[in-house]
Amino acid sequence: MQGPILSRPIILRFFQFAAIVCVVGCTSSMLSDSRIEAVQRKKAAKSFNFTANKSYEEECTSCHVGFLPGFLPERSWKKLMTGLDDHFGENASLDEPVNSAISKYLFTNAADKPAASARSKKIARMIASNDAPIRITETPFWTRKHHSIKAYVWKRPKIQLKSKCEACHRDASKGIFSEFDVQIPK
Ligand code: HEC
Ligand code: HEC
Repeated sequence: MQGPILSRPIILRFFQFAAIVCVVGCTSSMLSDSRIEAVQRKKAAKSFNFTANKSYEEECTSCHVGFLPGFLPERSWKKLMTGLDDHFGENASLDEPVNSAISKYLFTNAADKPAASARSKKIARMIASNDAPIRITETPFWTRKHHSIKAYVWKRPKIQLKSKCEACHRDASKGIFSEFDVQIPK
């Protein structure tokens, strides 16, 4: 008869304890969530905007990965889009209205536009104003980021072209070029 009476406070104490564990646990998980968010925000600020575009996907990703509009300034994309009949030795010309639609997408999201990410703006800033490179791999930002990669590495069968971003940036097709997501193939 005495048992249940004595055990009541123990049960109460158990619930009290559980409540404290919950409060402490929930607060600390909220804290770590906001910490993770801060890290992600920091990372995102370093990276590139990625807006998918159907025409671009269809026409510009069959021979190589879809390069992000934010990799080159508008004047570079203009030069590239008006010279598609001789596109690095390939005929990649497009009929209207497709050319205009893709051009609009590239120009709107170009590296030198106000809406561009901080990284894109840096790419644009580093290009001389009288220059309009049509190779991302020839922009000062890109060459600086990749200068430590040795010539023999570029010649590896799985790489071969500097423009084959996805050989090392595994999520390049998703617009992810973070230095935390790079693996150079052997
Ligand atoms: C018929 C195949 C083909 C199509 C279609 C094509 N390209 Fe290319 N593109 C190439 C080749 C080949 C290269 C040069 C690859 C190399 O030598 O690194 C290239 C290179 C590029 C580069 C420079 C890469 C670097 O070295 O930084 C850009 C930018 C580019 N293409 C954009 C586009 C855009 C935008 C479209 C769509 C309008 C497009 N390409 C469609 C074949 C194609
Ligand atoms: C041979 C492998 C390889 C190829 C191919 C390659 N990259 Fe990289 N890339 C790297 C490595 C390694 C780094 C990290 C350098 C560092 O530690 O700062 C890097 C860094 C970068 C960065 C900076 C990332 C950051 O967070 O600082 C960008 C942007 C980038 N690459 C874009 C490209 C683009 C665009 C292409 C294709 C046109 C490309 N890369 C092709 C290996 C490669």
